[in-house]
Formats: sequence, structure tokens, C-alpha cells
Amino acid sequence: MIIMLLWTVLMASIVTWTKLREQQQVINLATKEARANFNKDLAFRKWATEHGGIYVNPDERTPPNPYLAHLPKRDVTTNGDMLTLMNPAYMMRQLTTEFEEIYNIKGNITALILTNPINAPDPWEKEVLEKFKASDTKRIIKEAIKITDIDHVPHLRLMKPMYMTKGCVKCHGHLGFKDGDLRGGISVSIPLTAYYQDADRVTRNMALVVVALWVFGIIMIVRHVKYLHKQNLMEERLRRAHDTLEQRVTNRTAELSKTLAQLESTQAQLVNAAKLASIGTMTTGIAHELNSPLQVISLTLEEIQEALDDDDIDKSTILSDTHSVMGNVKRLTNVISSLKNLSHNGEKTDYQRINPAESCEKILTAMSAIFQKSHISIKKHYADNLPEIDADNHLLEQALKSLFDNATTALAETKQPTIELTVDQQNEEIIIRITDNGSGIPEKNIEHIFDPFFTTKEIGEGTGLGLSIAHHIITDHHGTLKVSSTVDGGTTFTITLPIPADN
Ligand code: HEC
Repeated sequence: MIIMLLWTVLMASIVTWTKLREQQQVINLATKEARANFNKDLAFRKWATEHGGIYVNPDERTPPNPYLAHLPKRDVTTNGDMLTLMNPAYMMRQLTTEFEEIYNIKGNITALILTNPINAPDPWEKEVLEKFKASDTKRIIKEAIKITDIDHVPHLRLMKPMYMTKGCVKCHGHLGFKDGDLRGGISVSIPLTAYYQDADRVTRNMALVVVALWVFGIIMIVRHVKYLHKQNLMEERLRRAHDTLEQRVTNRTAELSKTLAQLESTQAQLVNAAKLASIGTMTTGIAHELNSPLQVISLTLEEIQEALDDDDIDKSTILSDTHSVMGNVKRLTNVISSLKNLSHNGEKTDYQRINPAESCEKILTAMSAIFQKSHISIKKHYADNLPEIDADNHLLEQALKSLFDNATTALAETKQPTIELTVDQQNEEIIIRITDNGSGIPEKNIEHIFDPFFTTKEIGEGTGLGLSIAHHIITDHHGTLKVSSTVDGGTTFTITLPIPADN
């Protein structure tokens, strides 16, 4: 808007400036023309004065001038023809009045003191003459210019002073004028119509150009403003889209972190629940394991007491009862020592360089009677040149036995029960695999299989500690114990044990 206004003002000022300049030009040109005319008048008058006036044949247009009556030689006769003297002012008046229509320029000779009242000044001329008179001695004012309407037509009027010269004294001396005195003035009027027409034409043409320029400028400004507006709109949209996106991301992030927190707490709850469940299983197991032998012991001791109360004591019954008590006490001791193993407060580990294949072989031999009884066939494969490992022989054998025990139990109802044993080396590790083709472990039990006291056996058949202890032992040896199983497809336990760097 401001740019449009500035543009308009600029264009308008160009037009105005052109107009003013043209007007000034009109005045300049007209002044020049007026001066030229004046100079021509003056030259002509000078010429006429130097000749002391001109003798002409008098006629109706030019009768003898009564204002020259005081001159003795106003009228002369040559060869019978009468001649009369024409003074310069007379000639000029005749010239200007008669040729005014042709030249369209008015020239006027006038003065404050008049010889002929016809030369009386008009108000402006009088005013100027007074000014000339006031500055007479110094001759400061050399001319006066005025733009004014004469008969509704604009004119430029120029007036210059006339001073007496020697030639003038002949005719004007009798009125007291001396050489050098201010006598009067000549005014010239130039009509400005033609000049103004020219100027108007120039201004009009200029105005046309400027208007065209203005329209063009306005169109350009409007287009640019529209373009800027459009760009702003797009920027605004982009910013809004960006803001929305950011907002969405923030919201989504907040949601996600909330969900994450919920998940974490749920997980913690689950872990807690699992821990509680496993503690539950454990305590139930422990309670059971301790309870049943204790019950047997308690009952047997009661029997012994009754038998002792009897008069005829049956020694053999008491003996077998004490055997039973001893057996159950041993069972309790076993449970307790297993628990000690599990918490690992008991025996110290005794690491030695051992051959893993030898350990396996030792357990297989020890358990061969059990395998035979259950018709289990053993397939074994030992890699050549197996390196030795650092292990507590006793503990490692205990772990292996637990795994073979587990396999034997799993094979109870299998038609062709088989246990496969492979001992291999892979990179820096010994890999021991024990695979059975038994009943397998249901998926829901797999994650609990190493939990202490977790057992699927009937109560009293196993402590539920064997696999847990085996896991414990292998982990203690910086190894891993993993299980993979499918129901009715068998189970594979995989032990990895690190080979010492110096072996
Ligand atoms: C031959 C005589 C003659 C000479 C020379 C002459 N004048 Fe005049 N002048 C007259 C007469 C006569 C008039 C008045 C009658 C007329 O207007 O014709 C007059 C008129 C004028 C007027 C107009 C005012 C008025 O008195 O009516 C002025 C101004 C003037 N003369 C100036 C001069 C000057 C300046 C010179 C010298 C350069 C000069 N004249 C030379 C005779 C003369």
C-alpha cells in the first residue's frame, strides 16, 4: 500500500515537475522574444533619432504631427512637394499599430511626462515607470516582466526604460529633459497562447507516458504483493504442518514412554511373580523332601517304642525299623547336602586339568547297570585330540550324572530308548551334547527346568534339584547349559565349557 502511494506520488511529481518546467520554459522563451522585439524597436528608434526623424509625404494616415509644431523645420518643401517630419515615437506607433495584426506583438512607448496623451501609461506601465524613476540615477532596474491577460489572452509583458541621448534633445529638450535623463519606457506584449499550447502538448505527452508507467508499476506492485502473500501463506501452512507433526511426535513419544513404563512395571511384576512362584515351588519341595522322611522316621520310632513296650521284644523288627530310620536320616542328609551344594556354601571347588571325555566315560560306566536295567542303548562319539579343561572333577561328574538321570527318567516309556553323547571342540570351547529320544519337555516347563525343586516326577521320586544344581555347577565353570526339546521328540542338553587359553 505504501509502495503504491509512493509510486503514485513519484509519478505525479514527475508530471507536476514537467508542467512547471514547461511553464518556466514558456516564460523564458517569451522573455527572449520580447527582448528581441524591444532591441529591434530600440535599434530602429536609434536609427530614426540619429537622422533627427524622417521626412515623409503627409497624407490622411500621416498628417503633420502637431506635437512637433514647435520645430521650425517640421514641414519643408522640395521641388514643390510638401514633406513633414516623423518623429521616432510616431513611426513606431504607426508600425506597431499597423502591423500588430501581422506580428501579433504589441509595442508601446510611454512616459510619466507626456508629449502626446495617447502615449499615457496603463496602470502596470505607470507602476513600472515609477520604479524606473525611483532607481533612475543608479539604473538598477533594467526591465520588468509580468504575465497577465490582455483581452482574456495570456500575455508576457516586458518593459525597459528609455534614457535621453543627444539626438533626443532636439525634440524633447523643450520639456526640460537633458542627455542621460530617464525619458520613459517601451513595453512589449507577447501573446503566450502558442507557447502554452506547445507546453501543454509536451506535458500531455509526458503525462500519457507517466500514466502508462504508473499503471505498469501498479500492476507490478500488485502482482508482487500477491506473490508475497501467497508465499507467506505457504510458509504459514508449512510451519503449521511442521508444528502439528512435532506435536504428534511429542504425543506419540509420551505415549510410548508411558507404555514402556507400564511394560517395565508389568515385567517387574511378572519377574516378582515368577520369583515368588519359584520360591513357592522350592519351599514346597523342601518341605516335602524333609517332611516325608521325617514322617517315616516318626512312624518307625513309634513302632520301635511299641515294640519295646511289648514283653517279648522282636529284635529283628526293631533292627529293620532302625534300618528304615537310618535310611530316612540319610535321605534327609542328602537333601540338606544338595541344598548346600545349591547355595554353594559347602564344599570348596577343586580345579584340575581334566579330560572331558574321561569324565563322561566314568559316569557312563558308573551308570551302566541302570541303563541296562532300563534297556537304554548308549551311542557315544568323542572327537579326536580333545584338549583338557580346567574343572572340579567331582562337581562336573555330579552335573553330568544329573543330566543322564534326567534322560533316563524321560525314557521310561520310550520303545527304543537311546541316549546319544557327543563331545566336540568348537573354537575355544568344549561342547558336550546329551540327547535322548524320550518324552520331551512341554514348552511351558522349559523355562522352569533349571528352577530349584521344579519337578514333574511324582512326589518322593526326585528332589527337583538335580538340573538346577547342574546348571549352577556349569555356570560356575564359566560355561553354559542349554536345553532344547520337543514333546515326544526327545531332549538335548548342551554344555559348553571354555578351553583354557594356555591349552
Ligand atoms: C524629431 C523629433 C523627435 C526626436 C528626435 C525624438 N522624439 Fe520623442 N517624441 C517626439 C514627439 C513629437 C513625441 C510625441 C508625439 C508622438 O507621440 O508622436 C514624442 C514622444 C516621445 C515619447 C512618449 C511620451 C510622450 O512625450 O508622448 C518618448 C518616451 C520619447 N518621445 C522619447 C524619445 C527619446 C528617448 C528620443 C531619443 C532617442 C526621442 N524621443 C527622439 C519627437 C521626437
